[in-house]
Order: sequence, then C-alpha cells, then structure tokens
Amino acid sequence: MCPVCVYTSACGKLSAWKFMIYWCCILNMIFLPMSRSRFKEYLPITGLAEYNKLSAKLIFGADSPAIQENRVVTVQCLSGTGSLRVGGEFLARHYHERTIYIPVPTWGNHPKVFTLAGLTAMSYRYYDPATRGLDFNGLMEDLSSAPLGSIVLLHACAHNPTGVDPTIDQWEQIRQLMRSKSLLPFFDSAYQGFASGSLDKDAQPVRMFVADGGELLMAQSYAKNMGLYGERVGALSIVCGSADVAVRVESQLKLVIRPMYSSPPLHGSSVVATILRDSEMFNEWTVELKAMADRIISMREQLFDALKSRGTPGDWSHIIKQIGMFTFTGLNSEQVAFMRQEYHIYMTSDGRISMAGLNTKNLPHLADAIHAAVTKLK
Ligand SMILES: Cc1ncc(COP(=O)(O)O)c(C=O)c1O
Repeated sequence: MCPVCVYTSACGKLSAWKFMIYWCCILNMIFLPMSRSRFKEYLPITGLAEYNKLSAKLIFGADSPAIQENRVVTVQCLSGTGSLRVGGEFLARHYHERTIYIPVPTWGNHPKVFTLAGLTAMSYRYYDPATRGLDFNGLMEDLSSAPLGSIVLLHACAHNPTGVDPTIDQWEQIRQLMRSKSLLPFFDSAYQGFASGSLDKDAQPVRMFVADGGELLMAQSYAKNMGLYGERVGALSIVCGSADVAVRVESQLKLVIRPMYSSPPLHGSSVVATILRDSEMFNEWTVELKAMADRIISMREQLFDALKSRGTPGDWSHIIKQIGMFTFTGLNSEQVAFMRQEYHIYMTSDGRISMAGLNTKNLPHLADAIHAAVTKLK
C-alpha cells in the first residue's frame, strides 16, 4: 500500500499519480539523508575534514611534500578574514615574535585584523608611485632590516589594492632573504586563479616557499574565485617543520577557535568540497575562472587602447602590466573627486578601480572621464 493511502486512509488502488508519489517518497528516503544540504549538525571545531584536505591540495599542489609528510595543518575558517584572524591570534599566543610586517599599501583590513589579534603591525615598502610598479629595492631593504624571526604578510597573487606582483625571479630573491633571516611568511591568498587564470600558476610563489621545507602560514578565501562571498568560506593552513609539531599546532588552533565561534558554518565548505572532489565540476570551474581572468585582461587592454587613442597625457602601460581584479590608476584624489562629480564614476580616493566592473559599454565613458580629469587637473 502506498504512503498516500496510509495517511489518507483512502482506497487501496494505486493510481498513476499515487504511484509516482510513492516512488518519490522511496527515493527521498534513500537519498535525502546522504545530501549534505539537508545535514545540519555542527561541524567539528576545525571544520569539514575533506574540505580542509582539498583546500591544502589546491594551494600547495597535490604532490606537495609537506602534505605527504603530514606537516600541514588546515582548519576551515570564516573566509579569508577569519583565516587571517585565527592565524594572527595563534601567532600572538605561541610565536616568539609579535611583530608582523605588512606591505604599503595593503588591503585596509590587514592592520586592524592583526592588531586586534594581538600582533604589532609594522610596514614594508611595496609600491612605487613614480613607476606605478613594485618598489623591489625598498621591499628588500625593509625586510633586510626587520628583526630576525619577524612575521611578514605576503599577498600570494593579485596584490590588493595595487595589482602589482613580484616576478618569479623577485619572489625567489624575497624567499632567499626571508629564509636567511628566519622571517616567517604569512601568505594571504584571496585571488587564486584570478591573476593569471591558472590556479597552479597563481600558487607558484607559495609553492616555492613550501618546497624549501620551511614553515609558513596560509590564509585562503573562496569568496572571489568561487563567488562564495556571503558563505564566508576560507581556510588557514600552517606548514610545520614536522608531523609531530603539526599535531600540537592543530590542538592549539582548536583552543583559539573554540572560544571565538565554536565551529565554522557547513554550507559553503560543502559546496567547495563538492566542486573540488569531482573532476568534472572542478574542470568546469577552472574554465569559468580562466574566462573571468581573460575578461579582466581584455578590459585592461581595451582601457589602455582607449586612453592611447584619446591621446591622454601620461604613461598608462601600468594598466596592462598590473594583474588581477584591481588597477591602481595613479589618479590623485582631486582627479577622483572630479570624475565622481562630473562623470558619476565612483572609486576609492586612492584611485583604485575594480576591473571586474568594466565592460565594453561603460569603458568608453571611463576613458572619457580619465582623459578629462588628467587634462584638466594635472
Ligand atoms: C587581500 C585580501 N585579503 C583578504 C580578503 C578577505 O576576503 P574575505 O574575508 O571576504 O574572504 C580580501 C577581500 O577583499 C582581500 O582583498
């Protein structure tokens, strides 16, 4: 007898629609308990174990020796910000140095997150307004004079807000300097895949540091590269010197997380794990990611060409040299205010624009506005 008949105590005949409902009920009974979207229990303090493993693989590479040697601890955190905060607090409690060096400029939340976590934020030179590129000499000088063992925050790729990244050769020099002074790298990876369109290429600087066998921290975010902003899904990984240290680090991380938010949310990490574990979905994601990165690169070229064709004064090659979502245009605050007032174009007063907001329709308007701002307000 079908369940509908039981509940309605109607006739025992199995009509076509009752037959359909019957089978829906049976299939639901089998499959619903297996569906993560219906599973609403607490996660452990460290989050979804499979998600943690897949996240570490994504950033460090499937063949990472550190993973194979069980030297990596990964805990699911509240997006990139939460990962930085948990990592910062762990260091403030247990690391022998309390000073973290952060680039100038950097994402506005960095100094606040680390200061509230109990660290002292100091800065190192990063961006050179004159070249609109990397101040490599300034960076190397500042890191050379940082006290031994200090923590150094590094944007893994697509530096926010400048869009300026070191070359691989420069990364290698940074790595050598940092290791020679036992400076502890704390990587912030909020844009993996967004810079070059390749997840592996964007992870290359991080993997160079892991390959030398040294320790580091890594904060990952899936907000941008999976578009999961509001799900607050991220991960903190700590690469340790040995598997034994990794076990102890994990237990101390639990003690940081437990009084902060008990355990992380389930839904976002289930979505990420579903995509990362399934080769077909993973490939589809990488294709979409590449399309996004390529579109941004094409917008850079089109904006550069539009300014060139208007004869806008100045060298705008930094627009095509910079990488990732953001361009540091070099426009000053007066020019930014002019563009807001006259052209209704809104950007941060430091002249940063998000390339993702541009398309073939609004790009000529932006080029007109930049041209007018630069010619009128030198
Ligand atoms: C450099 C950098 N780090 C971390 C984050 C944190 O992002 P979320 O907490 O949304 O993952 C951002 C977001 O804009 C960022 O630009």
